[in-house]
Amino acid sequence: MTLEEKPWKTAITQEKDGKTFVRGYDLMEMAKKLNFTQAIFLVLRGELPSPKEEKMFNTIFVSTIDHGISPPSVIAARAVASGGTPLSTAVAAGVMTFGEAHGGAIEQCAKMLQETVKKSTDLQKQAEKIVEKARFNRERLPGFGHRIYSTDPRTVTLLEVAKELGFYGKHVELALEIEKGLEKAVGKKLCLNVDGCIGAIISEMGFDWRVGKGFFIIGRAPGLVAHVFEELSTERPFRRLSEEETEYKGVAPRKLELKK
Ligand SMILES: CC(C)(COP(=O)(O)OP(=O)(O)OC[C@H]1O[C@@H](n2cnc3c(N)ncnc32)[C@H](O)[C@@H]1OP(=O)(O)O)[C@@H](O)C(=O)NCCC(=O)NCCS
Repeated sequence: MTLEEKPWKTAITQEKDGKTFVRGYDLMEMAKKLNFTQAIFLVLRGELPSPKEEKMFNTIFVSTIDHGISPPSVIAARAVASGGTPLSTAVAAGVMTFGEAHGGAIEQCAKMLQETVKKSTDLQKQAEKIVEKARFNRERLPGFGHRIYSTDPRTVTLLEVAKELGFYGKHVELALEIEKGLEKAVGKKLCLNVDGCIGAIISEMGFDWRVGKGFFIIGRAPGLVAHVFEELSTERPFRRLSEEETEYKGVAPRKLELKK
């Protein structure tokens, strides 16, 4: 049976003669010579990063490593841990919250930017069209707006580094045009947030939008592990919402009478 005929195929890692080769490189040599960021780039892209790509990657991952106890992923992970589950289950629960409103916007924003840049060079006009369509359909554009920031400080830093390293091209420009257009249309600044900014930068770096959520998972996993371990090691199990935090909005207590 040839390799092509086997049902499970991979171009990522090979086990050969008792050794492991990732993208063709001996894993044990990698462990001695590469830092984690370089290894992540290699496993995702298939080749080693240039120093500029490595620095950009590192800035993305460090800037997303944690954002406090309040985001949905940390609330979910810590709540699941407090039920008495193992660390892996609780961390997975945190990752499962990564949807269109939290972390997941990287993917959809990168898709929108990549598809638009491919079809037109008039970025300002395209941005206007995108904003107009979103407002008409009452849709939220992925990668814009933030619950607490009018300017996302992570975006400021990421763009500063992207500019310095040469990852500040058409995708970033389009994202900033959309930000401008949204402010005009909504009457309030809806900043290019960290997700949208990462979506633009990975597009500049030539990554397929479909791997977008992976960047948030890789960046935020250490933060989730730390939160879950803190919950397990320092808090009493069984978190319960207090009366001040909850409100009943249903029918008043009533007599149970079966329908005839
Ligand atoms: C992040 C987010 C949930 C914050 O929402 P919020 O603080 O509750 O924003 P508001 O509900 O106050 O929105 C105010 C107005 O801006 C609009 N708006 C907010 N985000 C918008 C977006 N991304 N695109 C278009 N319009 C948006 C709302 O529809 C609302 O308009 P209206 O007053 O005409 O109804 C929201 O901006 C969003 O869903 N963004 C897209 C997803 C995303 O990028 N998530 C990653 C966050 S890091």
